[in-house]
Amino acid sequence: MNRPRRNRKSESIRAMVRETNVSLSSLIYPLFVFEGKGDRIPIASMPGIFRWSQEEVINEVEACVNLGIHSFVLFPVFPESAKDKLASKSFAEDNFYLHLISKLKSLFPHITLMSDVAMDPYSSDGHDGLVIEGKILNDETLPILGNMAVAQAQAGIDIVGPSDMMDGRVEFIREALDDNGFTDVSIMSYTAKYASACYGPFREALDSAPRSGDKKTYQMDPANRMEALRELELDLMEGADMVMVKPATLYLDIISDIKMHSNVPVAAYNVSGEYAMVKAAAEKGWLDGNRMMNEMLLSITRAGADIILTYFAKEFALQEKNK
Ligand code: PBG
Repeated sequence: MNRPRRNRKSESIRAMVRETNVSLSSLIYPLFVFEGKGDRIPIASMPGIFRWSQEEVINEVEACVNLGIHSFVLFPVFPESAKDKLASKSFAEDNFYLHLISKLKSLFPHITLMSDVAMDPYSSDGHDGLVIEGKILNDETLPILGNMAVAQAQAGIDIVGPSDMMDGRVEFIREALDDNGFTDVSIMSYTAKYASACYGPFREALDSAPRSGDKKTYQMDPANRMEALRELELDLMEGADMVMVKPATLYLDIISDIKMHSNVPVAAYNVSGEYAMVKAAAEKGWLDGNRMMNEMLLSITRAGADIILTYFAKEFALQEKNK
């Protein structure tokens, strides 16, 4: 009799025939940072995740490096007073975030640092694009993104992640980087980024929720699958070095589609809401949080993601270390 169970009879056989493994070197750990001194500030809806002061985050990066995490995506938090319609702070001389990128790269030259390129943390409208008379303008946003990307490149960023879903931004940013001599800075495009309810905790962490309206005129409709391939085609043509699907777990079909059609590495962003769901249920004792984490990261990898941006990175690294 044909018995598939034979391949499951012991942990060593299961490990031998395992088709998918999550690797720590493929994880990118998001870190929220703010200007000034002071302690880390917990984020209520994301247990275990903090806003780090620009001083404290150095120790945190060191701790992560010692655990084997070598890639980070940084998100700056700004007070309302630093925001304006044009997101001017994003490329200003006195932007602490740009200085922090340089500092981290000089202290830890071998790590990979990624940064979002989008207006929302700097925008008084809380949108990813320039808002004029209630409209989010596309082409007028591009030069702002170009300036932001070049400023981050000057600071020493390794990868920029256009996360705003404006049309034509990958090409615009590539040209801006190249024209300024930053031919080595990579672009990981947020290729298929959906207008999802899963970003709530992140917007709380950054205090970056839209002041009016929603993001549905630029982020994708969760109902659409074919459209992700159109976005992929454009991003590849425009010069993206890596492409991303976001969120991850509710969009495994999209990850799988994109993996089939992409000739560059595929990333998935396991977003704040996905993390919050697991943590909330685990806190209530309704789910086993650790097993959920592993199953989530495994399913994202199995669907085809080569890279995962995840708030679980540190917990996963700790687990691997204690194995
Ligand atoms: C900003 C940005 C968002 C996230 C990453 N970059 C929020 C948004 O688009 O509203 C979400 C990440 C998360 O929820 O973990 N453009």
